[in-house]
Amino acid sequence: MTPSQVSADGVLPVHTQLAALIEKKQAVIGVIGLGYVGLPLVRAFTAAGFRCLGFDVDQAKVDKLKAGQSYIKHIDSSAMAQLIREKKFEPTADTTRLSEADCIIICVPTPLNSSRDPDLSYIEGTARSIARSLRRGQLVVLESTTHPTTTRTSVLPVLEATGLKCGTDYFLAFSPEREDPGNPHFQAANIPKVVGGFDERSSELACSVYSHAVVKVIRVSSMEVAEACKILENTYRAVNIALVNELKVLYDKLGIDVWEVIDAAKTKPFGFQAFYPGPGLGGHCIPIDPFYLSWLARQHGEQTRFIELAGEINTHMPEYVVNRLAEFLNQQRKPINGSRIAILGVAYKKDIDDPRESPSFELLKILGARGAVLSYNDPHVPVLPRMRHYPDLPAMTSQEFTADYLAAQDCVVIATDHSSYDYEFIVQHATLVLDTRNATKNVTRGRDKIRKA
Ligand SMILES: NC(=O)c1ccc[n+]([C@@H]2O[C@H](COP(=O)([O-])OP(=O)(O)OC[C@H]3O[C@@H](n4cnc5c(N)ncnc54)[C@H](O)[C@@H]3O)[C@@H](O)[C@H]2O)c1
Repeated sequence: MTPSQVSADGVLPVHTQLAALIEKKQAVIGVIGLGYVGLPLVRAFTAAGFRCLGFDVDQAKVDKLKAGQSYIKHIDSSAMAQLIREKKFEPTADTTRLSEADCIIICVPTPLNSSRDPDLSYIEGTARSIARSLRRGQLVVLESTTHPTTTRTSVLPVLEATGLKCGTDYFLAFSPEREDPGNPHFQAANIPKVVGGFDERSSELACSVYSHAVVKVIRVSSMEVAEACKILENTYRAVNIALVNELKVLYDKLGIDVWEVIDAAKTKPFGFQAFYPGPGLGGHCIPIDPFYLSWLARQHGEQTRFIELAGEINTHMPEYVVNRLAEFLNQQRKPINGSRIAILGVAYKKDIDDPRESPSFELLKILGARGAVLSYNDPHVPVLPRMRHYPDLPAMTSQEFTADYLAAQDCVVIATDHSSYDYEFIVQHATLVLDTRNATKNVTRGRDKIRKA
């Protein structure tokens, strides 16, 4: 211990105390928002030997977790139950207990509001909850995806209003989540993590705590760089997906299969990364986060043309799919109106149960408006959830995936390429299959029934 680390009264400064707690894995980790990001983080920290307190405003989720049930399919309930039994993880809705946590990690939603501007109300509300019990020696890290400057302008002032000083009394950082739900190869613990702190001490403490739980920590010079890094990653995906979606439309007109083109292009060992077209963008990140940056750009009199254009192309995809479907049905002398159409997959991507922003909802909406007789099957989504933007969709439950069900449809639309689907079986029994994901690539029999869009 150097003399500068000990104050005149012999008490260690709070950052040194917190560093020691982290080093000994005695720091309590408080995770706010027990969703698709928060729960995997709890898993990573508990696996590293830390005790976690989990906070969520949704009492029903807290009760489920307390009963040892994970409400997210790819997060194993028995492992959660064991963590709770062993008191390594305690979920609660009581935010007054935030003072018990040494490191507080915020994983709350960051949606867009009705005018497609950032809705920071969850982050701001959480900051206020933390401020109510903020104490010396706490580290606060924001993980929710947001535009650069949010931590400094929406979290810091709320915490400073307590009279405590950032960098001396408490510590603040931003570290973006890179969760890829359902990806069997990458989970919180083996995904490198970018960390940017308010100051030197905040950066050190945040890097230190994450370094116990994740494979690699990349320290950047500021919270803003860390925030901007996440938006770059998501914008990169949105723009590249838009590019292949646009090429899909053109190549299709030219009679060229875009998926075959991409498979050929990705044999280039450098300078090309494969992205795949689909029926539209889905999920909580890619369709939303880039627009946080667009909003910020507007505040500075700048534009984000790539983001706007990508948004336009990707948003148009469900309409394109329906128009292609209309053409294929037309070839069979059938109108959409009155045709029985089954959507296979309403989760936004394969093998998960998350329907947020899924293009399947837009497909259902457009097809419903054109008079189709709709149904769906999704092994991961037994009941069609009510979605804010789709209040008029009828209540639906996932239909049994049988030969009779498939055969009874005028067209089966593969909207999500879940691995559990037997694509040979689908093509064998359906009259017409519209494949938006190239999921039937390896189907050998009945290929004349398959159309792509
Ligand atoms: N899902 C992903 O794959 C993913 C990946 C990377 C980043 N992100 C980002 O991470 C953040 C969280 O996303 P998510 O998918 O985990 O969302 P989620 O909706 O699954 O979980 C968020 C949880 O926060 C809770 N919550 C809301 N307000 C709260 C409050 N004031 N206090 C406590 N709990 C509160 C909600 O009840 C919910 O359980 C978002 O910013 C998102 O963009 C998500």
